[in-house]
Order: sequence, then structure tokens, then C-alpha cells
Amino acid sequence: MSIILAIESSCDDTSAAIIKDGVVCSNIVYTQKIHEEFGGVVPELASRNHEKNIVVTVEKAIVAAGVSIQDIEAVAFTRGPGLIGSLLVGVCFAKSFALAHNLPLIEVNHMQAHVLSPFIENRDIEFPLICMVVSGGHTQLVYMKDYLDMEIIGSTIDDAAGEAFDKAAKMLGLDYPGGPLVDKWAKEGNPNAFTFAKPRMDAFDYSFSGIKTSILYFLQKQKQQNPNFIQENLADLCASIQHAIVEILIDKLKLSIKEYNVKSVSLAGGVSANSELRKRFVETVTSMQAKAYVPAFQYCTDNAGMIAVAAYFKYKKGLFSTQSVEPLVKNYAI
Ligand code: KG4
Ligand code: ZN
Repeated sequence: MSIILAIESSCDDTSAAIIKDGVVCSNIVYTQKIHEEFGGVVPELASRNHEKNIVVTVEKAIVAAGVSIQDIEAVAFTRGPGLIGSLLVGVCFAKSFALAHNLPLIEVNHMQAHVLSPFIENRDIEFPLICMVVSGGHTQLVYMKDYLDMEIIGSTIDDAAGEAFDKAAKMLGLDYPGGPLVDKWAKEGNPNAFTFAKPRMDAFDYSFSGIKTSILYFLQKQKQQNPNFIQENLADLCASIQHAIVEILIDKLKLSIKEYNVKSVSLAGGVSANSELRKRFVETVTSMQAKAYVPAFQYCTDNAGMIAVAAYFKYKKGLFSTQSVEPLVKNYAI
């Protein structure tokens, strides 16, 4: 029997979850709305908001899971990568909670947790597996031999896919985070209305800065001829931009499935909530005779449920941290 409290605070979501014998029993996510008016995450505001909300978020997770503080056997937290101020709130809270209740600590790598998110609700997996992780800060292809045995085989050399969605959305005058809004508008538009430059990259690496520049120049040119171009073509623009980003992702995915000859393929990270990506991912993987795993919607964007599942696998292996553990801003080897 194991009951673990998990905390996520790497960016602008304050989240807490309880996992009981490998089953996520609660997952409370408080998404900070304050950043919307600034068109992006303001680090100082994010850490202050985490401080304000972490206690009540943890309390809610404990109550929703129907457990008491005395039942908790370990405390897990996101060590990094992320914003230093945001990470510090979660790390300090977890350390204090563990000290006060004499509990072991489990540090979790945020990217590793994203990779494990499709397996919160489905553990019927045949390894090896390739996971495509597409978030706001990272875009990676990960080769997995087991739940905790993973190796990065490709990643973006510049912007992440989520960043490309958000930056394109900003150029279209949409709010932050723009990814979900592009997805919404794209439903009404024609994905082949406009075409944007596709990068030529070696092996399994991605690049999204070229498409961003291509969109910027295209919009500047069109607006010179018609100042209302964006408003008049918003749905077609969103559908075409989304289609272009998804194409880049799917091309590399296909290449990696072929090269590594895997029978299981998963999708993870905030952008895995995108409707076209989810559809194309499942179609592509299935057509290549492999099994597709996608996370449930509530586990796509940042959440403590995924931290909890990573912590559960580490708990089973006795992988604990000491009180001297510190947050790490940059991605680090797992
Ligand atoms: O994984 P995540 O919550 O945070 C990071 O660790 O970065 O990912 C957030 C990213 C944002 O860039 C957001 O725009 C994107 O995921 N996103 C989406 C959708 N939902 C979230 N992008 C496209 N379509 C969506 N439906
Ligand atoms: Zn994330």
C-alpha cells in the first residue's frame, strides 16, 4: 500500500494530486489567469501566485482523495525544469511538509512526468516505446525501455511546438496561451488555405523558428494590401498554421517509428491536447501497425497527476531524495 502526495509548480499551474497504489485519486489544478493580460507568463507573478494557492490546492487534493494527512507515506514534487521562483515554492513546500510529518521525499523531472502521463490510466504497454513530448517549453522524441528508463533521441533546436502555437496566436491577436484558441478557430477553417515554410532538419531534431518567421512575413505582406486580412481570415489562418505545425511533428514521428521499429508510441505534453495532433497521431501510429497511447485531456497540460505517477514508479524502486535537494531550471539528465 502506498499513498503519495505530489506537487507541481514549475510554471503557471499550481497543482496537487494524491496517488494510491498507483491510481491517481485526485488531481487539483489551479491555472493562474493573471498572466493572460500580459500575453505570457510573468515569472514573479507566477511564484507569488503559487505561494498564495499552494496550501489550499494541497488541502483540496487530500480531501478529494478521501485520505487524511496521517495516511500520506511520501511527498513528491517537480524539481525542474521550470521557472526558478515557481519551482522554489513547490520544492520548499514539499520539503517542509516532509520534515513536519517525517516522510520521505521524491523529486520528479517535469519532462519525465509528461512522458509518463499517457500511462496514468493505461498500463497495458509493450516496451520499447517512443514518446513524442510536445509542450510549451520542450519538444522531444523519447525512446523508452521501461517506465523510468528513457533516452532523448531528438529535440527542438530552437522554439518548442507549444511556443510556435503561442507566438503565432499572438501575431493573430489572440490571448495567451494561444494554442487552445488556435485549435478552437481551426475547427471552422481550411487547413490548406495557406502554406508556410517547412524546415529541413537532420535525423529526429525539430525546428519551429522558421515557421514563426514565415507566418510573420506572410501576415505583414497581407496586411499591407488589406488591413483587415487577419480578422477576415482568422479561421483559415488558424487551421493552416495548426496544420503546418502538426505536419512537422508527424514527419519526425514517422521517421522515428520506422528507424526504431517500435510497436508502442505515445504522445504527451500540453500540445497533446490539440485536436488535430491527437487525430493525426492516432491515424499515423495505427497505420504503421503500432499501438497509440494518448493522455486523457486533464493530464495533457501541467498537472500533479503526472508528477504522482512518476513518483509512484520511483517509490517502488526506493528512489528518494534528501532534504538538501534544490530546484533545477534547465532540463537535466534523468
Ligand atoms: O505542458 P504544458 O502545460 O506546459 C509546459 O510544460 O510547457 O504546455 C503548455 C503549452 C502551451 O504552449 C499551450 O499553448 C499548449 O501547450 N496547448 C495547446 C493546446 N492546449 C495547450 N496547443 C495547441 N492546441 C491545444 N489544444
Ligand atoms: Zn509541462
